[in-house]
Amino acid sequence: MNILGIESSCDETAAAVYTGNGLRSNVIASQAVHEQYGGVVPELASRAHHKTIWATVQQSLEEAGISLDRIDAVAVTQGPGLMGSLLVGLCFAKGLCLSRGFSLIGVNHMDAHIYANFIDDEPEYPFVSLTVSGGHTQLVHVLGPFDHILLGETRDDAAGEAFDKIGKILGLPYPAGPEIDKHAKGGDPQFHDFPQAMLDNRFEFSFSGLKTSVMYYLEDREDRESFLAEHLSDVCASVSRAITEVLVKKLENAIEHTGVHTVVLAGGVSANSMLRARARQMAGEKNCQLHIPRLAYCTDNAAMIAVTGYMMGQRGMYSDMNLKPYANLAE
Ligand code: KG4
Ligand code: ZN
Repeated sequence: MNILGIESSCDETAAAVYTGNGLRSNVIASQAVHEQYGGVVPELASRAHHKTIWATVQQSLEEAGISLDRIDAVAVTQGPGLMGSLLVGLCFAKGLCLSRGFSLIGVNHMDAHIYANFIDDEPEYPFVSLTVSGGHTQLVHVLGPFDHILLGETRDDAAGEAFDKIGKILGLPYPAGPEIDKHAKGGDPQFHDFPQAMLDNRFEFSFSGLKTSVMYYLEDREDRESFLAEHLSDVCASVSRAITEVLVKKLENAIEHTGVHTVVLAGGVSANSMLRARARQMAGEKNCQLHIPRLAYCTDNAAMIAVTGYMMGQRGMYSDMNLKPYANLAE
């Protein structure tokens, strides 16, 4: 089965080809247009998807060495995400399926982040996933393929959102997560104790207080600019510690609660080096197998949509032409 995967939920237009022999191509066209606004502008995102989607798909087929007529099914992100962006991918996928007779598979973006772990690897079920992205922060008990129990999620900001908003306060460009990660490597994580919220709650998260506390921490300083010039990396390392410690503690709670022997990280924030290292250490102490996607499969990509589509296709989980996008998970 040859699957063409298409991802357009936010600001990356991406296409990938996955076959029975594994991943054949993975192409991403990132939208630089948002940088000047310090965040994603939905209308501009939809327009950029519209402009690049066909070229991105063509490139993914070329790199895979597979012509369009050898595709069996198109897997496309159905949601959650920006409605206008999702519509571009979904309408494009439906058009291809209708004109070429391909099957259509609507993929949940958050599931796809989890199954990105199956591109290079094969985590054993049941496992717990710490799914941490720009829009979501979740602990998911995965009993088997597409058999999930949501253990808990964030009550306010997502972990990636916290990185991005705090980065903005620190004057870093969007998306600030990778920037904070880079600066943190040269800093002292113990430099300042930022709050670690809801440590007494087992599976839920809250990151909006951390953002406020960073704001006050800097607002109170008259020497803000020279302080940041000297201590940016220390502040980045301390912020990273505050976020990472909470994430790893909750993942540990989930291991204890479910009794799993396998855990996975998923989503853009799983690219974070401190999180990867701390999760590795904790999993070792708990005698758990830890799987983390390689960096290119952590942040948004179409390889994860294609592999998830492949797994869904194997199980007959096809969609019909009534497939509708959803902006939020609860819709
Ligand atoms: O999964 P993703 O690419 O898109 C969503 O589905 O939201 O996640 C994007 C998020 C952004 O908030 C970005 O700042 C964060 O992942 N991120 C990171 C790192 N790389 C990406 N956060 C911390 N450290 C990183 N290395
Ligand atoms: Zn994502």
